[in-house]
Amino acid sequence: MATALIILAAGEGTRMNSDLPKVLHRVAGAPMLVHAMQAGAMLEPDHTIIVAGHGAEAVRAIVAAHDETAEVVLQAEQLGTAHAVAQAAPRLAGYAGDALVLYGDTPFIQPETLARMASARARHDIVVLGFETTDPGRYGRLVVSDETLTRIVEFKDATPAERAITLCNSGVILAAAPLLFDLIADVGNDNAAGEYYLTDIVALARTRGRAAGVVICDEAETLGINSRAELARAEAAFQTRARAAALENGVTLCAPETVHFAYDTHLGRDSVIEQNVVFGPGVTIETGAHIRAFCHLEGCHVARGAVVGPYARLRPGTELAEDTRVGNFVEVKNALIDEGAKVNHLSYIGDAHIGSATNVGAGTITCNYDGVSKHHTEIGRNVFIGSNTMLVAPVTVGDGALTGSGSVITRDVEAGALALARAVQVNKPGRAKKLFEYLKNNAAKRGKGAD
Ligand code: UD1
Ligand code: CA
Repeated sequence: MATALIILAAGEGTRMNSDLPKVLHRVAGAPMLVHAMQAGAMLEPDHTIIVAGHGAEAVRAIVAAHDETAEVVLQAEQLGTAHAVAQAAPRLAGYAGDALVLYGDTPFIQPETLARMASARARHDIVVLGFETTDPGRYGRLVVSDETLTRIVEFKDATPAERAITLCNSGVILAAAPLLFDLIADVGNDNAAGEYYLTDIVALARTRGRAAGVVICDEAETLGINSRAELARAEAAFQTRARAAALENGVTLCAPETVHFAYDTHLGRDSVIEQNVVFGPGVTIETGAHIRAFCHLEGCHVARGAVVGPYARLRPGTELAEDTRVGNFVEVKNALIDEGAKVNHLSYIGDAHIGSATNVGAGTITCNYDGVSKHHTEIGRNVFIGSNTMLVAPVTVGDGALTGSGSVITRDVEAGALALARAVQVNKPGRAKKLFEYLKNNAAKRGKGAD
């Protein structure tokens, strides 16, 4: 069924105590709103409309970076959830498909759950996502009789008997877009909160002979985030699920509780992740790669058989080909390290290509930044870069070349050449002994020796 997504994200989120709009606070490296967009993307929506209010400009920027086809509409005043959905109506004028309402502060709705809602639409005009809970608190209650949902009553407006209901409203609603907007047009604000409640459309639909049904999901999926403490709990819940999923998918996690995932981390089967590894956004680790302890990775691709760390940092644009080695205290950024190449110790490789089977010695630095612009370093195949080589970019080192340790390479090195760019060594016989004597005498005159 053709579907449009409407994601409500106008609320201020006062309890976050933040300058950042609530929906832009991150869980697993992505704004909560992006999690909701990702879940909804599973339905391959024709339209994605974000209803923004507080911090709308910041919301607009994040939405554009994530999905350039998504539209942001403004709800200048937050008059209730029905009023929020109504802001999307002009963008969906004439649209005959379904509309699914999601929430920017409810990041964990699973795509499978949305798929179940979509199939339940064959049986109901309106499908509401509900959940059972032992602690229904201030959630709206779903009033069900004979398998149909007769109405939703908000906590503030509910009778004691209604408050005793434990089947709650997640807020997620799916209906034909024309019906949804028709019903919303009839919603009033004569209630305890003085708000236009989206939930009122269920009872209104019945007066028109339309029927609503409930799809039930796990309470954890409907978790909304209103405070920093809830954000921290949501992060922990995400990490617990991500670790379990990785183990299930055939990844070895040596100490699962110390590995931190991003929302989009992809780990291949039989990859091994040691202790205390942090994945930022955009990481793919292929089958059989090995990430040793204490590494930080983001925006990178690590191919089969590569070994990374311990203590390595892979930054965005890093591509490690098969069987590469990146060792301790090595930082790599925007660089392709080709098959079998090694950068084992204490190096910075940025804006570079390192050819296959090349060995980069300890302490090597690609000097990629001149204070104004970034420049590229090109290193060929089977090259030996001596320890502590400074490669002042832009610079090229040809296949099979060798640079002497401690060289500052500012000019291109042709294939097969030995490049030496350092002061010539001078040995002065006996001079060390004399120098020490002189220094000791001086110190004795001042009345203090080495201690
Ligand atoms: C809503 C539901 C309630 C449900 C609960 C689940 C209504 C009337 N009630 O209550 O049945 O159990 O969610 O969490 O729908 N928003 C806007 N613009 C507005 C109002 C709200 O964008 O004018 C956004 C908020 O930012 C928030 C979401 O919609 O993300 C829900 O609004 P909120 O006021 O928190 O509704 P609840 O009282 O929690
Ligand atoms: Ca809420």
